[in-house]
Amino acid sequence: MFELIKGLHNLLRWIVVFGGVYALWTSLRGLISGGVWAPTDRRAGLIFTSSLNVQLVLGIVVYLFSPLVRGAFGNMGAAMQDDHLRFFAVEHLVIMLLAVVSAQLGYSLARRAPTDRAKFVRSSIGYLIAALLLVYGIPWGRSLIPWA
Ligand code: HEM
Repeated sequence: MFELIKGLHNLLRWIVVFGGVYALWTSLRGLISGGVWAPTDRRAGLIFTSSLNVQLVLGIVVYLFSPLVRGAFGNMGAAMQDDHLRFFAVEHLVIMLLAVVSAQLGYSLARRAPTDRAKFVRSSIGYLIAALLLVYGIPWGRSLIPWA
């Protein structure tokens, strides 16, 4: 069961990544071209933030049942000295939480913004920070597809 959920967590990472590229692209395009905020812009943000929220829930489940994390909690002092254990016990979770918050802030503040330009500015900043955190926080050294 754990391997199934971890595999789904691995797979959903691609929806988060492509959703992020799409949302960032539509925002920057609107910002640079001085465009009108359209339903497609809102939808792009919704796909990105929703996939992140589902990935967050899956991540918490993986975290609670991960033998790796359990091992780290068995001796936290030693785990903090180990780059691999420290990454999955602390860093990955913290970086991803910041990415989820940043994308959500970009999306929500854009919806409340008074002008189209302000919508594109806020969404671009939120999605860009989230994208940078994702690139840094995704364990690219792990298998790119699950169950491989
Ligand atoms: C929200 C964006 C997130 C993305 C894109 C992401 C992506 C990934 C990927 C690609 C892996 C490697 C899976 C594999 O080895 O097959 C992974 C592993 C893991 N993730 Fe995430 N993750 C995210 C959020 C989280 C969160 C919020 C948590 C914790 C609350 C979390 C906990 C874990 C753990 C514990 C593992 C390693 C499991 C193990 O090998 O035992 N992830 N994550």
